[in-house]
Parts: sequence; structure tokens; C-alpha cells
Amino acid sequence: MKFKTTPYHFDLLKDNDRLSVFFQAIDDYEGNMDLAYDLGCGSGVLSYFLSKYFNEVISLEIDEKAYECARENLSSFDNTEVINSDVLEYDFTKKADLIVCEMLDTALIDEEEIPVLNHAKKFLKENGKIIPQGIINTVELVNLERHYIHWDEGANYEEYSKPVVYSEFNFLNDIKPEFDIDLTLKTDKSGTVNGLMITTYTKLTDNLIVGPLPMLNPPLLIPLEEKSVKVNDLINIKLKYIMGNGIETIKTEYY
Ligand SMILES: C[S@@+](CC[C@H](N)C(=O)[O-])C[C@H]1O[C@@H](n2cnc3c(N)ncnc32)[C@H](O)[C@@H]1O
Repeated sequence: MKFKTTPYHFDLLKDNDRLSVFFQAIDDYEGNMDLAYDLGCGSGVLSYFLSKYFNEVISLEIDEKAYECARENLSSFDNTEVINSDVLEYDFTKKADLIVCEMLDTALIDEEEIPVLNHAKKFLKENGKIIPQGIINTVELVNLERHYIHWDEGANYEEYSKPVVYSEFNFLNDIKPEFDIDLTLKTDKSGTVNGLMITTYTKLTDNLIVGPLPMLNPPLLIPLEEKSVKVNDLINIKLKYIMGNGIETIKTEYY
């Protein structure tokens, strides 16, 4: 099947590993299920996967151009309805067996996964599921070349500590968008530390976890005040952000 897409959604489609993990997670749904929501359906590719297993698929997309593509791409599927709407303003009426929501980004800071799921999951059946099921975040000390918040797309940095898991979310639980934590990270070499690197692992299902991919959660690099360190120093850092409100909400300080 040939998909009509916007340039951004074309890049998402080209990331085969991203598509194949979502395909595997959806392909676990054998049999005739009732209703699935695809929130932020983009080109409609995940709705296309879902249409095989669900009697009804409702796909919401905020971007008008992407919505037009999805509507055309899915026009031959009688069980799929594409709606041009912000999920946060959509009046859900029916409870679903499954919600698929790929509004992921590193630590969920810059995209609306958490606010959208907090709104939509009231319309999930009692034993309903969410794909992805959750995320796991790790953090490590680094020396950065660039002193502004950026994603690792060929950026230069040197690692100064082992990654440690600092947060884990299961999307079925209520999640407060405001996040803050006091971290203690142990250096594993001497030199200068001036940043943190956050890496997000996406838990598609119980048995399927994927690390950063070209179009899924590249590691996020965050500057810190420069600090000279020796091996095995313990560095205390407060890290705060609001999930869904953008990378401008990220605040760090030594304590
Ligand atoms: C990362 S893309 C995923 C697209 C598609 N599901 C895929 O996997 O290829 C996220 C999509 O969510 C849409 N989106 C973001 N916020 C939204 C909102 N509040 N309501 C509806 N769609 C939203 C974006 O326009 C974008 O198309």
C-alpha cells in the first residue's frame, strides 16, 4: 500500500524499526476486538495495522494536512473513521479496548503524550490496554560540546557516569505532568562535567522494549553549570520539568 504523507510523517514512516515495534505490539491482538483509538494518527499507518484486528478504529489527528493524508490512506477501510481534532478537545463517547498513542519524545517533555492520555484513558474499558504501555528514563553525567538543550542527532559529548534509571511510568496509572527529582550521580572519571543526558526506553508491551531510534526518542542533552570532578565523586542535582509543556520547562541545579 502506498501512503500519502507530509514530509515529517514520511520521515516517521521511513524509520522501519519504529514501525516494526508498533506493528509487533498491535499484532499481539488476535481475534475480533471491539474498538481502538489511534491518538495522533499522522499518516494513519498505525490505524492501518489496527484495522485488521478491531471492528472499529477511531483515529484523531490535530494537523489538517496529516488528517487529509490519513483520510485518503484509510478511505478503503469501512471500519476506520479519521477525525481532524485535538484529542484534548474531543468528546469521547465510547469506551475502547485499546488506545494507541504515539506522541512520544524523550522523557515525554516536548510532546503531549501525558496530557492526552490523562484525558483519553477515562474512555478505556476496565481491562483495556494502551500501546505503548509506558516508558523508562535513564540519566547520566556528560561533558557537552553545545551549551543548550538539544537532542543527540550526531552531537558530541563524553560520558562521565553510568546511566541510572530515574523514572518509570505505566500509562495505565494516573501521571502528574509536573515532574521533579533529586539525583545523586557517581562520576567514573576525572575531568569536567557540564551536562546531563536523558535516554528514554519505550515499553510497547510487557515483552517489547525499545531504546532510542532515529524517529523515536533520541537522547536529550541538557546543560549544567560546569564542574570539575574526580573519579567516584557524588554529584547532587535537582531536575524538574513539565511533561507536555516543552523543553523550556526543564530546570536543573546542583544542591
Ligand atoms: C509522532 S507523530 C505519530 C504519527 C503516527 N501515529 C505514526 O506513528 O506515524 C504524533 C502525531 O500526533 C499529532 N498530535 C500531537 N498532539 C495532538 C493532539 N493534541 N491531538 C491530536 N493529534 C495530536 C501530531 O500532529 C502528529 O501527527
